[in-house]
Amino acid sequence: MDRPYIICHMVTSLDGKVTGDFLGRDAHSELIEDYFRIHREYGADGFLCGRVTMEGSFPQPPVPPTVYEDPPIERVDYVAERAAFYAVAIDPRGKLWWSGRAISDPDDGYNGAHIIEVLTQNVSDAFLAHLQAKGISYLFGGITELNLALVAQKLKQLFGIEKLLLEGGGIVNGSFLQEGLIDEISLVVIPEAEYSVKSVSLFETGKYQTDNATMAASFRLKEAKRLNDDGLWLTHQKQCIPATKE
Ligand SMILES: NC(=O)c1ccc[n+]([C@@H]2O[C@H](COP(=O)([O-])OP(=O)(O)OC[C@H]3O[C@@H](n4cnc5c(N)ncnc54)[C@H](OP(=O)(O)O)[C@@H]3O)[C@@H](O)[C@H]2O)c1
Repeated sequence: MDRPYIICHMVTSLDGKVTGDFLGRDAHSELIEDYFRIHREYGADGFLCGRVTMEGSFPQPPVPPTVYEDPPIERVDYVAERAAFYAVAIDPRGKLWWSGRAISDPDDGYNGAHIIEVLTQNVSDAFLAHLQAKGISYLFGGITELNLALVAQKLKQLFGIEKLLLEGGGIVNGSFLQEGLIDEISLVVIPEAEYSVKSVSLFETGKYQTDNATMAASFRLKEAKRLNDDGLWLTHQKQCIPATKE
């Protein structure tokens, strides 16, 4: 395969929501811990999140003054380092002004992950200069829009990522699903239905449509495991459906 094996690993409600009050209840804290344990046990080479999730999970410093007077920076991929574990941020417009080259987090499954920013060529020179100064890697996934198949290929070619955890939110998951780029789905299911209309679904599709979009994605059950507190860990693998004869 010319790209990493991609596992979408998420916590959901019974009705497939990934945000809402159900995540914060004390009764489910052990299931949230299960999610992080499974993340570590996958032994992946990195995790990938959308810009909104990265902003919510890892506090960002204020945007620094952005005066840039040096020569324009060529739009070529920048590998600051080859690391053991990566945090890949889908940040097409360059909004995450990270303060350092790696994630700082109390959880060993995230702490120390070297940051790779996935950008379009539309970002500012000031932002690229900031990333270089901080020792943060970046790659270009398109001119104004992202081509996620290309992004996945570059993650393998440039950084050697073989196994990648796709960890939300719904928009980024939906984008990868539409492109047929999800090989496995791992869900820690909390036994609660989330009725808030504002809740984000596991796969939010429609915001980013491309010509590569697949019609539907089919998966087969790999394992269903009961967890404490009436939780479930469900894993499904992509089903390859043979082409039907006309
Ligand atoms: N339950 C769980 O396991 C779990 C896990 C992770 C996150 N979450 C929750 O999910 C929520 C965020 O989800 P979300 O769906 O709103 O946001 P998201 O997927 O985290 O980020 C969406 C943003 O990422 C960029 N992006 C994603 N796909 C793109 C594409 N194909 N092309 C170009 N840009 C793309 C865009 O950034 P720009 O807007 O900058 O253009 C887009 O607005 C948070 O509340 C978080 O807590 C839950």
